Amino acid sequence: MNKTIIISNRLPVDLSFNDITLNVKSSVGGLATGMKSVHADGNGIWIGWSGLTEEEIPAGRHHVVDEALRGKKCIRVPLTQYDLDNYYYGFSNKALWPLFHYFQAYTEFELVHWESYKEVNRKFADIVIANAGQGDTIWIHDYQLLLLPQLLREKRPDLTIGFFLHIPFPSYELFRTCPWRDELLQGMLGADLLGFHTYDYVRHFISTATRIAGLEVRFNEITYGERTIKADFFPMGIDYGRYHGAAIEHERRPVNSRSEIMQNIESHNISYADSRLILSIDRMDYTKGIPNRIKAFEYFLEKYPEYKGKVRLVMLSVPSRENVSQYQKLKRETDELVGRINGRLATINWTPIWYFYRSMPFDDLIDLYVASDVALITPIRDGMNLVAKEYIATRTKSDGVLVLSEMAGAAKELHEALLVNPNNFEQVADSLKYALEMPLAEQQSRMEALQKRVSRYDVERWSSAFIKSLQETKDVVTQTQAV
Ligand code: G6P
Repeated sequence: MNKTIIISNRLPVDLSFNDITLNVKSSVGGLATGMKSVHADGNGIWIGWSGLTEEEIPAGRHHVVDEALRGKKCIRVPLTQYDLDNYYYGFSNKALWPLFHYFQAYTEFELVHWESYKEVNRKFADIVIANAGQGDTIWIHDYQLLLLPQLLREKRPDLTIGFFLHIPFPSYELFRTCPWRDELLQGMLGADLLGFHTYDYVRHFISTATRIAGLEVRFNEITYGERTIKADFFPMGIDYGRYHGAAIEHERRPVNSRSEIMQNIESHNISYADSRLILSIDRMDYTKGIPNRIKAFEYFLEKYPEYKGKVRLVMLSVPSRENVSQYQKLKRETDELVGRINGRLATINWTPIWYFYRSMPFDDLIDLYVASDVALITPIRDGMNLVAKEYIATRTKSDGVLVLSEMAGAAKELHEALLVNPNNFEQVADSLKYALEMPLAEQQSRMEALQKRVSRYDVERWSSAFIKSLQETKDVVTQTQAV
């Protein structure tokens, strides 16, 4: 029986060693949830990096890791510290990540990073090939593995290969600045189906394929030698039921069992009846527009001083890729901005920005979503942005307002949000005021429309739509061969 192999840079597990004892936790991230049924189906397996480098696994314990992963239908690609520094921090996160998010000035094109990227993609290919049966289906995820489709195709033309890019695909004008653009493009073209979050990313990819490789395109089908490759958009959703259910559960919990942060918020709300919360949650990443958001909030307080003392920005920034200097710079800039604004505007009873630099347990996140009057999500560029969808799912009374950057892929679906240009502080400030003063009936009519869409196009539907489309490409190939 054929199986599906899922491949991503990280496996959906969280491993750690306590001396020589291995702790294994399953990850409940968006991708892990979306892949649940594909992974559970038959002999489905997931191949990726375990999160621990070879050097981090205690001597003689590698087989323990392998066995634990096998129990979770996972197989690891062993990565060394060198791989991590050059393939992951290097080419993936100092070249591709900034380039694909239009941060051209941040890109570092280093030959040694590129060589390592190729080498690690080959490592992935070897392990996939060793585990793939005749005619299996392969679903590869994200920018760390752009070369993998072609590496597999060369050795195993029997496989059906799908690839999904979780970040934006940039305009040809950006993509062509990469010294290894031809190899990257060829790498992707090894797939039968290329999936993106939005139609715009598909368009950019197709224009890149025609301009760089001179390929022929009809609608969304690219002719490449004997093969036809389909490029299509599949906007990723969330596990709506999990977020919505948790928010309902939250309301049932007694106040004193809620998180410390929530108890604090509630005690403030009791003392200050009209204290309103604006929520901001992201990984600490320069693509998320965090400094701009803080400055826009400061501008809002200057322009509408009647809100001083009455509204707070609750900002959760989850640490990410801390070895990369641009991320360290961003952290320093954010710390300074928050410090300057709080220092300048705070009173004994009021701190304008509550800033948390850490990750938070799921229940605490739900607390934050439920407690917030407005979610302010203003990335400079974002492939999709699932936080926006999570906020929508937790609004059990259909109140609350989403202020969303038009530069997020999610803006293409979430029309009823207040859409803003994150660089236009005037517009962000005015939208915040509008959001805080929006009549309940308008909040609810916007939110209900958003909820209908986000609940219908959830992550399960996203993965099944992709797999179905991939299956169709396979059927076309089989029929052509039969003729
Ligand atoms: C983005 C990328 C993912 C990545 C995640 C976390 O969502 O599209 O591929 O896994 O960020 O980043 P990290 O570098 O910690 O895996």
